[in-house]
Amino acid sequence: MDLVLFGPPGAGKGTQAERLVEKLDVPQISTGDLMRAERKSGSDLGKKFDEYMSAGKLVPDELVLELMKKRLSQSDAQKGAIFDGFPRTQPQAEALDALLSEMGRKIAKVVVIEVPVEDIVERITGRRVDPKTGQTYHVRYNPPPSGVEVEQRKDDTEEVVRTRFEGYKKKTEPVLPYYEKKGLVARVDGVGSLDEVTKRIETALGL
Ligand code: AP5
Repeated sequence: MDLVLFGPPGAGKGTQAERLVEKLDVPQISTGDLMRAERKSGSDLGKKFDEYMSAGKLVPDELVLELMKKRLSQSDAQKGAIFDGFPRTQPQAEALDALLSEMGRKIAKVVVIEVPVEDIVERITGRRVDPKTGQTYHVRYNPPPSGVEVEQRKDDTEEVVRTRFEGYKKKTEPVLPYYEKKGLVARVDGVGSLDEVTKRIETALGL
């Protein structure tokens, strides 16, 4: 199954994708995570990503698509994937359809996790990540177990998240009608406990 988790920054796409991986038996593909890994490697490409990510701006489509092509060619991604944070622009959405079609696949559902901006700021500024495992936590809603050392993402400041949210409204949300026309969109209320949101997504997917 190929599934897109769509929604503003901090909606819970990554958190919910991690929970769906086992159930669907397909990998989570997060363009944000792929870019952060590239950045950590210190490569020139990683430095380029950093310029955009630190400012909360979208990375240019051609760079994102290059990354996605490479990831989709890997062996674990041959049966399906949970796309998290991708596509984010109309060209990315069309390119994903083309890439999947070459593999004889198509998107089964686009789940939009809806969360108001006030909650987003609280979620993002309270987010912490375990750099060793990539596991995401929240200081209040999903605290890390004692002994686990966590860090804060560079772009998780209130100022940067507001820029990311504006970018979502301007460039990403307008992609939804493309999927609506195909009858693929399911909207899910993202406010509630992690388990409640998981249940809503599973219901939307008929799981
Ligand atoms: P990316 O890493 O994709 O960030 P994002 O889309 O802004 O999404 P987040 O990872 O911030 O949030 P999320 O929805 O996954 O929420 P999470 O589950 O962590 O992108 C970062 C940057 O990379 C972009 O700004 C851009 O520069 C670049 N980029 C990436 N992809 C790109 C693309 N395709 N094209 C161009 N540029 C691209 O949850 C957030 C917090 O809330 C956590 O602490 C979590 O524990 C907590 N939480 C989750 N659910 C709940 C709940 N139900 N109740 C309370 N707290 C909750």
